[in-house]
Amino acid sequence: MKFIEEISRRRTFGIISHPDAGKTTLTEKLLLFGGAIQEAGAVKSNKIKKGATSDFMEIERQRGISVATSVLGFDYKNNKINILDTPGHKDFAEDTYRTLTAVDSVIVVIDVAKGVEEQTEKLVEVCRMRNIPMLVFINKLDREGKDAFELLDEIEQKLNLKVTPLSYPIGMGYDFKGIYNIYEQNVNLFTGDPKKDIEDTIEVKDLNTDQIDQLIGSDSANQLREELELAQGVYPEFNQDDYVKGKLQPVFFGSALHNFGVRELLDCFVDIAPPPRPKSSEEREIKPTEDKFTGFVFKIHANMDPKHRDRLAFVKIVSGKFERNKPYLHVRLGKNLKFSSPNAFFAEKKAIVDEMFPGDIVGLHDTGNFKIGDTLTEGEQIHYKGIPSFSPEHFRYINNADPMKSKQLNKGIEQLMDEGVAQLFTLEMNNRKIIGTVGALQYEVIQYRLEHEYGAKCSYENINVHKACWVEVDDEKSEEFQEFKRVKSKYLAHDKQGQLVFLADSAFSLQMTEQKYPSIKFHITSEF
Ligand code: G4P
Repeated sequence: MKFIEEISRRRTFGIISHPDAGKTTLTEKLLLFGGAIQEAGAVKSNKIKKGATSDFMEIERQRGISVATSVLGFDYKNNKINILDTPGHKDFAEDTYRTLTAVDSVIVVIDVAKGVEEQTEKLVEVCRMRNIPMLVFINKLDREGKDAFELLDEIEQKLNLKVTPLSYPIGMGYDFKGIYNIYEQNVNLFTGDPKKDIEDTIEVKDLNTDQIDQLIGSDSANQLREELELAQGVYPEFNQDDYVKGKLQPVFFGSALHNFGVRELLDCFVDIAPPPRPKSSEEREIKPTEDKFTGFVFKIHANMDPKHRDRLAFVKIVSGKFERNKPYLHVRLGKNLKFSSPNAFFAEKKAIVDEMFPGDIVGLHDTGNFKIGDTLTEGEQIHYKGIPSFSPEHFRYINNADPMKSKQLNKGIEQLMDEGVAQLFTLEMNNRKIIGTVGALQYEVIQYRLEHEYGAKCSYENINVHKACWVEVDDEKSEEFQEFKRVKSKYLAHDKQGQLVFLADSAFSLQMTEQKYPSIKFHITSEF
């Protein structure tokens, strides 16, 4: 197959949702369609089980599973699909944000009864900021839920999206009769048989004939006609260009559990979702079709075996062909590296391969060379941008609890931060280290891993920080900035990249500081 064909048949995407909306179930059904797995229940959920949210051993166990489901690759109708796993648990939101830098589009799953939930709002906002094309799947139509119009409205209001339905439910819950597929112009009748792999679709080109009445009864048929007419009046016509630009979000309805409406979603998805997209670097924009390989690290996974400090770096291929045993430039370190056993990801397994293409994720064994955000090239000095850090929610001082092991502790902290487990801030005043995390759970994970993987012991100490704000100033010599640095010296720190961060101790003090120093900008993300 030609290089260009390989690129254009790739679809690399993430599924995002609030926990329990049905992401795992949907993923599994997509894999079934791809023939990548044989039966439902084969994909282990890497989500943290309910009731186990404070059990970090459970997280360690899940960490093993999540390696297997980090990237799920399979073929479907001559497309190569790569699903990148995005943890739904909010304590791992940072991981998900980073993964979203490696997708070319996303599918958003929403529970028909719960509607738009908190975690969906946050994740969609990140996608919106990056103009990532989004397709919405409203799930669990076999249950009672909100009315279709109410949901579409809610999605527009709460998620700030512009939607257009490409399928439409006929009843729901007890009365769920099926789905009219606006995109394909056919009807799919619901039998409620979860074992049936693919439902039969019945082509209905013209809703004004009585064909539809015979299928679902006159009352339902009339209601469907009315609602579709209304929908056509309210929502814009589907336009692929707007969708790809992130300006319009098509919506599908279905039931992942019953494998209903999933085939429609997938068929439309491979049809309209974009192949790998160009990516900006600090120097220039790089197109996937360029013949020289480039890629960037968006995720690092430590090996489960503490005896080997071996890690797997996940690299998204942006351009060119990745080849086994070919030397590539690690731009940050300025050194050439060769990879003798690069991994490609298939459903539930990885395998060593000789070449991979833009859109693919390659897993590289690493002994500590990689950090999240690193760029690999064939020699060109480019730096991919946009692996953002967001202000953590929790902050604690980290102290060395075993003075004999300070080297191990520092090494451990450094590597865990490179992996993106948490963020490190170093206070300007006294060089004390502060660990910031999205969830409180990470503190236990860090403590456990420092001890078991690095032989170091740490303790924590509370510190009152509300938010970490990255500081932006035009003129570092200005009197205002100098005064700010003097007055707030106690609250100033540097992140791992050396960027200046203001650790505000309350929302009020942040507001006061912003007012007092109008020429200084305070950002809650490192990307501005
Ligand atoms: P998540 O990955 O987004 O967290 O959600 P997951 O797929 O694990 O689904 C959460 C729960 O919702 C599961 O039930 C799952 O069976 C159910 N579910 C998913 N899709 C549908 C659907 O279309 N209809 C209905 N009625 N339920 C659906 P659970 O009881 O929490 O887990 P399990 O014991 O069934 O695995």
